[in-house]
Amino acid sequence: MKKLNVGILGPGTVGGGAYEILTKNKDVIEKRTGVSVEVFKLLTRRPRPEFPAELLTDDPDDILNNPDVNVVVETMGGIQPATSFMLQAMKNGKHVVTANKAAVAANYEELTGAALENEVKFLFEASVGGGIPVLTAIQNALSGNNFLEVMGIVNGTTNYILTKMTEDGADYKDVLKDAQAKGFAEADPTADVEGIDAANKLCILTALLFDKYIAPSDIPTTGISQITGTDIAAAAEEGCKIKLIAHATLKDGQVSCSVAPEKIPNSHPLAGVSNEFNAVYITGDMVGEVMFYGKGAGALPTGSAIVGDIISIAKEIK
Ligand code: HSE
Repeated sequence: MKKLNVGILGPGTVGGGAYEILTKNKDVIEKRTGVSVEVFKLLTRRPRPEFPAELLTDDPDDILNNPDVNVVVETMGGIQPATSFMLQAMKNGKHVVTANKAAVAANYEELTGAALENEVKFLFEASVGGGIPVLTAIQNALSGNNFLEVMGIVNGTTNYILTKMTEDGADYKDVLKDAQAKGFAEADPTADVEGIDAANKLCILTALLFDKYIAPSDIPTTGISQITGTDIAAAAEEGCKIKLIAHATLKDGQVSCSVAPEKIPNSHPLAGVSNEFNAVYITGDMVGEVMFYGKGAGALPTGSAIVGDIISIAKEIK
């Protein structure tokens, strides 16, 4: 049986989730692909007693320059050195799978260009909407459409905070602490609450939907840190909920996009997306409106998307 060796850069929450799925569901993955997918090495700078010691290394070259590694999973987070590591892996003929929205958004053209140049796969389903398979759907099942609009609730932390403020009248700062404790928030939660994380995800969605790269820094972005209980009550009076919406539209051949709190009528499907859940609502010229819903963060949902990308590589090499 063919073997596919996977090296994971950064087996933290998300990389650890991918490891768990690859080991627990090894049999089903093998049955579906006809390929034995093996976790070969884990790059970590700190002790990780939860993994077999023989898999651990603190030298990136043990993965990036190792001819036995076929797929590099990048779950370190941050733009650098993650981007350089992914480029080096592709240059060495390795397929790359990542969940790193900040790195993909910042260096989209360089990373996708490197994949073409080196004839390898660069897959990043896990970077938007965690476990929701929206990027794959855009590129496959929906790809016969001209896309007209996307509205996404793509940040779990802010959706959790807004939900608790709306439903329980909770205080912004208390709920942020709660979201951090639950592990949804970024290491620096400014990226969540100021809309930066959502802008990174919108950049990736816009590149795939409209074939247009708009740098996150060029996306007008307003977060939720200034939203008060009074704003939420005023929206409720109008029959609306306030949601942080990553929004892009195509009009007269121009793509315009923004990340901002918007008043969503209670009758709209996005108004029913609560707590840390994410949803992406897409309008295509043929399919009409479709909505993808699910867990946008966390070890196993995000790990599930990573493993899906690895499986599509395994099927291809088969
Ligand atoms: N901090 C992100 C969120 C994690 O809250 O959605 C998933 O990208």
